[in-house]
Amino acid sequence: MSSSDFLRAKIEGRRLSMVTCYDYTFARLLSGSAIDGILVGDSVAMVMQGHPSTLYATVELIRLHTEAVVRGATAKFVVADMPFLSFRRGVTAALDSAHAFMTAGAHAVKLEGVDGHEDVIQRLVESGIPVMGHLGLQPQAVHACGGFRVQGRSNDSAQAISRQASTLEVLGAFAVVLECVPASLAEDITKAIRIPTIGIGAGAGCDGQILVLQDLLGMNLDFRPRFVRPFLDGARNIQDAVTQFDEAVKAGTFPSTEESYS
Ligand code: KIV
Repeated sequence: MSSSDFLRAKIEGRRLSMVTCYDYTFARLLSGSAIDGILVGDSVAMVMQGHPSTLYATVELIRLHTEAVVRGATAKFVVADMPFLSFRRGVTAALDSAHAFMTAGAHAVKLEGVDGHEDVIQRLVESGIPVMGHLGLQPQAVHACGGFRVQGRSNDSAQAISRQASTLEVLGAFAVVLECVPASLAEDITKAIRIPTIGIGAGAGCDGQILVLQDLLGMNLDFRPRFVRPFLDGARNIQDAVTQFDEAVKAGTFPSTEESYS
């Protein structure tokens, strides 16, 4: 896949699938799947580091995780997330951050919002860096939008999100993530713009869907929002496996003779 394949998929009516990934081992597993793209999301700060929000992700953190993912998924389309404020300190600072991700092996960058950094998006695109937008719930603005809640329920808010989606298209973004917006709004936006919409909590009318890998695998015990479908009971399976290991060690049945060197 490439950013132009995303646009082609929309024209041809093919749905796109994406997941987040932060590490080499999972990236290797994703390599063998048909998934269309991997996002090294700033959710790494929450999922891998245990922070309460994505505000704690840094350029260096995303760069390191991007390198690991690219090493594991050499043939996949990898998007690196521009972390909090990394694209709000002017065009030069944003280019420096994007430079770090592209030389780490990413094929595109994603950034939240549009208003106030149109110049950054335009400059990235003009510099040959495919840009994915992110509208609706913007977790980096969690303190300004009253928590992790559905956006675009009022007319004004819905219109603002639609306008921003069109602006992203005009600025040359190749796709846009729509997070936690009413399904009808996501569907209207999807019909109105030519770039693919990738939904998370945005209903089935989007051109594609993305989930955090650990949510998809049912590994998160504390977090089960309405839009997450766990395709595996990962938490229970992992805990069962570790319990079996613990019991085998304590019973003296692990390691066996076959699992030992003569
Ligand atoms: O960082 C992330 O995981 C994301 C997805 C929710 C789209 O931005």
